[in-house]
Amino acid sequence: MLNICLDLGRSRFWLLGLMLVGLLVSCGGGSEDPSQQLYVIKFPHVTAPGTPKGQTAERFEDLAEARFPGRVDVEVYPSSQLMNDDDSLEALAFGEIQMIAVSLSKFDRLTEKFQVFDLPFLFSDLESVERFQSSPTGKTLLTELVDNGFLGLAFWHNGMKQFGAPRALRTPEDANGLKFRIMESDVIQAQVQAIGGSPQKMAFGEVYQALQTGAVDAQENTWSNIYSSKFYEVQPYLMETNHGYLGYLLAVNPTFWSSLPDDIRDGLEEIITEVTEWGNARSAAINEEDRSKLGSSDRTNIVTLSDQELMGWQDAMRPVWEQFSGDIGLQLIEAARSSNP
Ligand code: LMR
Repeated sequence: MLNICLDLGRSRFWLLGLMLVGLLVSCGGGSEDPSQQLYVIKFPHVTAPGTPKGQTAERFEDLAEARFPGRVDVEVYPSSQLMNDDDSLEALAFGEIQMIAVSLSKFDRLTEKFQVFDLPFLFSDLESVERFQSSPTGKTLLTELVDNGFLGLAFWHNGMKQFGAPRALRTPEDANGLKFRIMESDVIQAQVQAIGGSPQKMAFGEVYQALQTGAVDAQENTWSNIYSSKFYEVQPYLMETNHGYLGYLLAVNPTFWSSLPDDIRDGLEEIITEVTEWGNARSAAINEEDRSKLGSSDRTNIVTLSDQELMGWQDAMRPVWEQFSGDIGLQLIEAARSSNP
């Protein structure tokens, strides 16, 4: 649906969305005393409650409702219960929901700048990502999509991505001919093509079944998503490559956000700062715990690669950088790269 709307004309679609939200906000708030009004924040997402995003969203709900009893009601819908990510982008722009935390990769049709996060082997670890995101250049990305109807309030981490496949992949050549489920990202598409795989863009909620039925053979994701969504049951080999970053833009509709009374907006922003620190500090630990559960599962095998083997993967994926550096911008790539130790 989002693609169809975007095909009709990106700017027309978003303008319509913003106008509609403006209308709803002005109609809804009119006669009521804002100090008595209940503000409902619908917050759907696609991962399980125990994941870094699931835990951080729940903590936001708890703290927001405790601070504003009877004034703020946060409704978190995990596990694609309410909608998938594509639909949530559209629903946020139209004011049907109020908050999202969608993978940065999935914004790539709206801005080429976010593609920097998908460049393979760009970040050495989550601390490096953190340094980049909290740098002046990184922070400008939070407001990059305001005109499209997305005000970024924070970056939330999941973790580093690993490959899962029906066979052990020690070299990129081992991936030749495999069908890989990927997120909606042209950079990830190019990355899979660079290793001779066939990329298939697919919603997160459909991945387990696609792997089970053989519609796709392989996938990439974090330990936490692989564990909590049970991909390991249908992926006999998990390769510890840490080849890319998976994180989220926590975003609200700018018109909705500015319609909140000042005390509520300021209070929620403080809570978001607090839960972001908490969740981002926990994300590495959650992924580590899930890695160790996967390591002791008899349904799958974790394949660790030597430094030399990993260099083979880096070399194979290097052309992706050249392919996208013009669109992303060399300055942005350099700012991200220089955040590594
Ligand atoms: C994916 O589609 O694999 C991820 O974006 C899921 C998520 O939200 O972590």
